[in-house]
Amino acid sequence: MIAIDLNEVSVPLVWEELFGWPDPPDVEIGAGKGRFLLEMARLHPDRSLLGVERAAKYHEMVCRRAARRGIESIRMVRTTAEDLFFRLVKPSSVARIHIYFPDPWPKKRHHKRRLIRPEAVDAMARALVPGGRLLVKTDHPDYAEVIGEVLAASSLTVEDPASHFEDLPETSYEIKYRREDRPIWAFVCRRGQLEPRHA
Ligand SMILES: C[S@@+](CC[C@H](N)C(=O)[O-])C[C@H]1O[C@@H](n2cnc3c(N)ncnc32)[C@H](O)[C@@H]1O
Repeated sequence: MIAIDLNEVSVPLVWEELFGWPDPPDVEIGAGKGRFLLEMARLHPDRSLLGVERAAKYHEMVCRRAARRGIESIRMVRTTAEDLFFRLVKPSSVARIHIYFPDPWPKKRHHKRRLIRPEAVDAMARALVPGGRLLVKTDHPDYAEVIGEVLAASSLTVEDPASHFEDLPETSYEIKYRREDRPIWAFVCRRGQLEPRHA
């Protein structure tokens, strides 16, 4: 079953129940039309992939496309990133979080709706396994500046993004923006290893 019915599964989510094996999944927030997830499933068929999309139209589109291709490694949940990170996932349970071209909410009065803000990034950091990574891209210059600041101030370690996207597909927005020659900002940061407990 590709679409997860949140009334029918354990909360917090248990990966073995959803995927059939316990490996921490890659999570994509705002999957849109699903290009990234569908390509990831083709390139890395052994990886568990969880798509999160709040818009019913896109959620259903990704489910349909994955089903038509017979893909077994994708699960989709129709909810918000906030619901996922503040309620649905266990701490230290996600391998990578991908957030590509999140809505920039350019008006000042809407900035509080932005996904990359300190309390949400804290929740994402808690969701990552030690050594897990958050990967973000945007085409929006003001938002890029804020994202850089929020990530630098978080508990995550900011890394050089260059090598981390080599084996990852582009999203629909990225393809469109590259054709239009728009600048794109990419960010990668890693959760450190857990401190050893003192006896
Ligand atoms: C600008 S589109 C980018 C789509 C895709 N990532 C791409 O790069 O082609 C943003 C997507 O994120 C979804 N979205 C926006 N805010 C969200 C949230 N808080 N939680 C989950 N999905 C969200 C929207 O419905 C939309 O599909």
